[in-house]
Amino acid sequence: MSPFTVTRTLPADATAAALRADVAEGLTRTPKQLPPKWFYDARGSELFEEITRLPEYYPTRAEREILIARAAEIADATGARTLIELGSGSSEKTRHLIEALPDLHAYVPVDVSESALELAGHALLADHPGLTVHALVADFLGGLTLPDDLPGPRLLAFLGGTIGNLLPPERAEFLASVSALLSPGDALLLGTDLVKDEATLVAAYDDAQGVTAEFNKNVLRVLDRELGADIDPADFDHVAVWDAEREWIEMRLRARKDLTAKIPALDLAVSFAAGEEVRTEVSAKFREEKVRTELAAAGLESRRWWTDAAGRFALSLAVRM
Ligand code: SAH
Ligand code: AVI
Repeated sequence: MSPFTVTRTLPADATAAALRADVAEGLTRTPKQLPPKWFYDARGSELFEEITRLPEYYPTRAEREILIARAAEIADATGARTLIELGSGSSEKTRHLIEALPDLHAYVPVDVSESALELAGHALLADHPGLTVHALVADFLGGLTLPDDLPGPRLLAFLGGTIGNLLPPERAEFLASVSALLSPGDALLLGTDLVKDEATLVAAYDDAQGVTAEFNKNVLRVLDRELGADIDPADFDHVAVWDAEREWIEMRLRARKDLTAKIPALDLAVSFAAGEEVRTEVSAKFREEKVRTELAAAGLESRRWWTDAAGRFALSLAVRM
């Protein structure tokens, strides 16, 4: 069998239909909102990688620090033969895990971004020719199913703090679905960004070079290309605000003037008043007790909690009961 396969679990027309439904619903409600998964076309995935190298964006460096320090412990605790990763992107940090797992048979990266999966798979195999990579182009919120021949024990990684991009009810449903994918004794490795001072958080989502602004506006380019919309990204400002009550960062796009966007694929015209905002992402920040409680509610028992030396980011290792 080929060491690298890419399987689309959703036909292209289902993805197009999901985009149409999300945009029709999200831009006709008040306040307007769009789900963050539509950031990640090939350009969006590249922009995210650029974000991970920004001086203000600490989560990637902090999580890498923990992975390097703890990879051997994770390998010992799990003995994983299959590593599944949701929202794997470039799989860059995951290399530390792959290299530490002596019995690893298969790596199963799952992402909506086919370009990211292709690049990551080829780069990994160049360095690890013995590895089998089964990439899945899939929505991890959409009733994910895995190939049934993946040997256990299985370790499912969800890194980067991407769980923070789910709204609380989505998060509970997602954790229950992850738990259902695992067998008793399998493990979840979860990355969570932690609550910290507002200035550090806002800078991480509103960098001086404007890369995060470009990433945020990329969703408008996706709407223009995929739905024939005529939205000019220059008509919107990037906004990042800390919601201290809900403990999350919100990214928004704020209209710079009154405007009407035509979206021919939906036969829709959407009006924006000057100053009106579309919420494009939440990025929740966590505390240890909340993570433990949410994992436990999904039948996942927390066994380890590690942070980087500066206490900015955490990795949890939990076992499916
Ligand atoms: N895990 C990597 C990438 C994080 S960026 C890291 O830690 O650096 C978030 C990744 O999740 C992107 O690659 C994006 O394409 C993917 N993603 C976002 N929403 C998704 C969804 N609903 N289903 C599958 N993948 C998704
Ligand atoms: C993928 N996710 C965890 C990133 C985050 O920090 O919430 C996405 C991102 N948004 C703006 N910058 C990075």
